[in-house]
Amino acid sequence: MCGIVGYVGEKDAQNFLISGLKRLEYRGYDSAGIVTISENGKATLIRAKGKIVELEKKLSKNKNDDKIGIGHTRWATHGEPSENNAHPHKAGSIYLVHNGIIENYKELKAELVSSHDFKSNTDTEVLAALINSFYDNGKHPLVNAVVQALKLVKGTYGIAVVSELEPEEMVVARCGSPLVIGVGHDETLVASDASALVGHTKNAIYLNDGEVALITKNSIEVKTLNAEPVSAKVEEIETNLAAIQKGGYDHFLLKEIMEQPESLSETLRGRVDVENNTVHLGGPGLSQDELRSIKHLVIVGCGTAYHAGLLASYYIEKFTPEITVEVVIASEYRYRDAYIPDDSVALIVSQSGETADTLACLREIKKKGVKTIGIVNAIGSTIAREVDGGTYVHVGPEISVASTKAFTSQVIAMVMFGLTIAQAKSVKSSILAPYIKEIAALPEEIRKVLKDNSEIVKTIASKYVDYDHAIYLGRDTAYPSAMEGALKLKEISYVDANAYAFGELKHGPLALVDDRFFEIALLPEGPLFEKAVSNVQEVLARDGHMIVITDAQEFDLPVENVVKITTDIKIFTPLLMNLISQLFAYYTTVAKGFNVDQPRNLAKSVTVE
Ligand code: G6P
Repeated sequence: MCGIVGYVGEKDAQNFLISGLKRLEYRGYDSAGIVTISENGKATLIRAKGKIVELEKKLSKNKNDDKIGIGHTRWATHGEPSENNAHPHKAGSIYLVHNGIIENYKELKAELVSSHDFKSNTDTEVLAALINSFYDNGKHPLVNAVVQALKLVKGTYGIAVVSELEPEEMVVARCGSPLVIGVGHDETLVASDASALVGHTKNAIYLNDGEVALITKNSIEVKTLNAEPVSAKVEEIETNLAAIQKGGYDHFLLKEIMEQPESLSETLRGRVDVENNTVHLGGPGLSQDELRSIKHLVIVGCGTAYHAGLLASYYIEKFTPEITVEVVIASEYRYRDAYIPDDSVALIVSQSGETADTLACLREIKKKGVKTIGIVNAIGSTIAREVDGGTYVHVGPEISVASTKAFTSQVIAMVMFGLTIAQAKSVKSSILAPYIKEIAALPEEIRKVLKDNSEIVKTIASKYVDYDHAIYLGRDTAYPSAMEGALKLKEISYVDANAYAFGELKHGPLALVDDRFFEIALLPEGPLFEKAVSNVQEVLARDGHMIVITDAQEFDLPVENVVKITTDIKIFTPLLMNLISQLFAYYTTVAKGFNVDQPRNLAKSVTVE
């Protein structure tokens, strides 16, 4: 949510700021801005409502070769998307970009209105004015002014600050909103996400909460807010350029759907031993005794991560004896007075590792003394650093706002964690072997399903472009998969899509079936197949417009459209069906002409509550 970039060095700052913002645009895209400062302290501020291209249009008239600057792409929290509310915000001679929320901005603003003429409705301008009040026209070092201001702030922030009076330095700080400093040769770069730094440097310092850094082109001095020096660790950025480019695809979403055979292989690498029917996860760091004693799992996530947890819970319950699994939505759970029994472990699921509600749950759960295990993608992210142990899903950067490849790998990573518990509890190998075998086979099966069905799904999607309502249906493991399918369609094509357990149909949703709706039913073969077929018939009897996704080759009910998946997979079929849902959402959105990768009102990483 929102993106920050900063540059100080010997090159043209505007170039890096714009290219960096484009890389971060998926995080927020309702307005953007940059400021650069010349050697003699002249600032050039350019801001625009809308996407980065709007900013670029303005840039051509304001091109300069300043060597220091900061930039921001915004997802509005305080104040509507507009040029005035776009960052950077100015107060006196300082400029500030900010991710996060200043919770006590009202109190602070009340103190500052007499000394600062507020031009926006943002909490960020309040922070700028506060810093400026301590800066006192450059009478105090900028870094000291920033520290004094931050000590009064309640809330979350990742910030970068520059001053016309000190045009060779920048101050950055973080509390609850990520900030990475790229270490270059005669240049230092700043970003809220390492992807903006890729191609510029491989070395980065990830700031921790409560740290502030004074940066010049060849120095980085990190301290805590209490002025204790921090010896910051320089880490390697693992992402490469190809991972953050579209690679010939029209959209990141399609690229990310199509790369699932490879991304899942990365999740499995070194963790699955088919010959010996075992899985090994090093990251959780739990001893065999600790694994054996687990009686309860709490799985926490938001959005797609929550659905991944739900689907994984169905599987874990099937093969792990005497264990209960509770899957919770982070934004709810953080405020519940939930009792967590002894011998519990919490799985904290997050692609970005930065989602505010998920992070808050992690901290609450830790306070209760429960062991936390991260199922995270973004390496070095806040959640990854705060959990007691974890399993990275290693799917590479996921740039499209709608999550696809992360979902598949999150499910399997959690199932593998379940399998390690089952192994420790000495569950019979004959029970676990089919799961392990299928997990190992999944990447190739995914490749097959994507290849066989892409064009079919595209054609089917084109027939439903004019519908505004959809119902997704499934039973057992197909139900969480249906939920995820509905979320995908809703997120990017703005169709009012909701999922129901087939068994719930008669308790309400059946009343909806009419010509305004179409229905997508997930029908995996298995013990509940016949029951699901009866449910399909109930919808057909009401003239429902039904699409069925199934692996049952003999399925022959007169539904409007069928996607028949050919696969050897029996257990993880709902994951394969979800590929069809992903493609369906993608092609529907393309046909509707909407922005696939950056759907309206949403952002990739929700770092505010
Ligand atoms: C946002 C994204 C979703 C994602 C959810 C949780 O809503 O748009 O795609 O599932 O956040 O994100 P996380 O990074 O915690 O998995």
